[in-house]
Amino acid sequence: MTDRSDDAMRPAARADGVLTTRQGHPVGNNQSQRTVGPRGPATLENYHFLEKISHFDRERIPERVVHARGFVCYGEFEATGMIGDEPASKYTRAKLFQEQGKKTPLAIRFSTVIGGRDSSETARDPRGFAVKFYTEDGNWDLVGNNLAVFFIRDAIKFPDVIHSLKPDPVTFRQEPNRIFDFMSQTPESMHMLTHLFSPRGIPASYRHMEGFGVNTYKMVNAEGGTVIVKYHFHPRQGVASLTGEEAAKVQGQDLGSASKDLFTAIEMGNFPQWDMFVQIMEDHEHPELDWDPLDDTKVWPEKDFPLRHVGVMTLNRNVEDFFNENEQIAMGTGVLVDGLDFSDDKMLVGRTFSYSDTQRYRVGPNYLQLPVNQPKSGQVATNQSGGQMSFYRDKAPGQNPSVNYEPSIHNGLREAERQPNNPPEVTGHLTQSVLERRNDYVQARARFCTMMDWERDDLIKTMGEMLGQCQRDVQERMIWHFLMIHDDYGRRVGEIIGVSAKDVAGMAPLPNQVLTDEDQRRLSKLG
Ligand code: HEM
Repeated sequence: MTDRSDDAMRPAARADGVLTTRQGHPVGNNQSQRTVGPRGPATLENYHFLEKISHFDRERIPERVVHARGFVCYGEFEATGMIGDEPASKYTRAKLFQEQGKKTPLAIRFSTVIGGRDSSETARDPRGFAVKFYTEDGNWDLVGNNLAVFFIRDAIKFPDVIHSLKPDPVTFRQEPNRIFDFMSQTPESMHMLTHLFSPRGIPASYRHMEGFGVNTYKMVNAEGGTVIVKYHFHPRQGVASLTGEEAAKVQGQDLGSASKDLFTAIEMGNFPQWDMFVQIMEDHEHPELDWDPLDDTKVWPEKDFPLRHVGVMTLNRNVEDFFNENEQIAMGTGVLVDGLDFSDDKMLVGRTFSYSDTQRYRVGPNYLQLPVNQPKSGQVATNQSGGQMSFYRDKAPGQNPSVNYEPSIHNGLREAERQPNNPPEVTGHLTQSVLERRNDYVQARARFCTMMDWERDDLIKTMGEMLGQCQRDVQERMIWHFLMIHDDYGRRVGEIIGVSAKDVAGMAPLPNQVLTDEDQRRLSKLG
């Protein structure tokens, strides 16, 4: 593999440790500007001063519009060569999974979602879990979270859900009334909310949380056969969470407790590990299920779709420079390698546009030439060049440098051999519609019922505190949803905020809401 590490890209450093400008000139005085006499005025031709201060003026790039606070480290993925008890090749030709013991280097970025770059790492918020695998076939990014599901199932709603969660554009405060105004009109969010407001919504550290791909992807084997898959990571350190009170104490001392914990563990040689699993379904609509496998508000029950072990991820190296490696790393759902593919999940397709679009704005059009984003395989050969901060031409060895187009018979780049990919045929009319099998309450109910008592108590208390800050119409609709999920959920949160089942009896379902038989039964019970 070609070495494209940070070191290989740097100009040679001065061996004597003398401070220089970026032009390579030694700096003799770094303490005082050039002035006419000791008291000034300052002169304008002071190159070193102007370079120093104008670079400082540009030290920040826009923070990520979501997941602004995060922390990167590096490690490796070691494959078992298997998917559960079957050879990996049965389902995918992706090279990183094929052989037992095969190691693939990776970078991972853990993050919170809503706060800014310097915000608290113990906020109640989903956590990002984004892995960049530097495979021999180029990069594979798996950009997921710690809660397995999401608030919405169509990418067109993403700016709305994020606007509701971000600070009010007038007061610049995160306002529960705005959050629950949106969520109360978005029944598919109930499952995610039930996770987020339970203790799982505040992981004790990045080392003690699970990771999930969340969206549905595909695997493709050598014959082009496809299956749909979900990805899971389970921490060998165990899962640990904080209650709101515990988090408040940590936050009072340290806003960056999670990155400190991760950095320190790695520095001490206490390398965290995660087992990686996949769940697999045949690639079709699965009409036998009462939810849609392309719906990211749903998990796939493990008893029906067992977890199959594929390898172990170990994190063993910290960044050298936070800005270069954390602020400039760029991951996205479009970054897949041969043998892995998209599903038709409508969130996944929308996400895939958004990530590289924002990264061209946030980092710049040549963000893929930065060391942390470059594939380590040394296999980049494109006809793209130019743009701000262009660093080198992506030429193949021996390529005619004048041929930056394709096709050509004068020694330019040529297309790769096409690999088979035979997904099922999809037909339909152009439409703008919601998935038919929504079943918005069933998995929230299952989660509520399987929580430990203390987790359920914490969920009820936190929900009560949040809804206590909302207006009456928002409170009533939320209690209505909770009663549709489970009697105790609605009754107990309602008791805290003074909204009873009687108060919401007779409320009609939301326009567009599709109720299952069980939902209808619960609705008539409500009266
Ligand atoms: C970051 C968009 C849904 C996980 C981002 C960023 C954008 C974005 C614009 C900033 C990227 C950057 O500046 O580099 C979207 C859209 C979504 C969506 C449009 C829905 C349509 C999700 C979901 C998950 C997720 C469902 C979890 C499964 C992440 C993570 C990051 C991120 C982990 C941080 C990546 C990093 O650490 O650099 N998202 N997102 N997003 N998103 Fe999403």
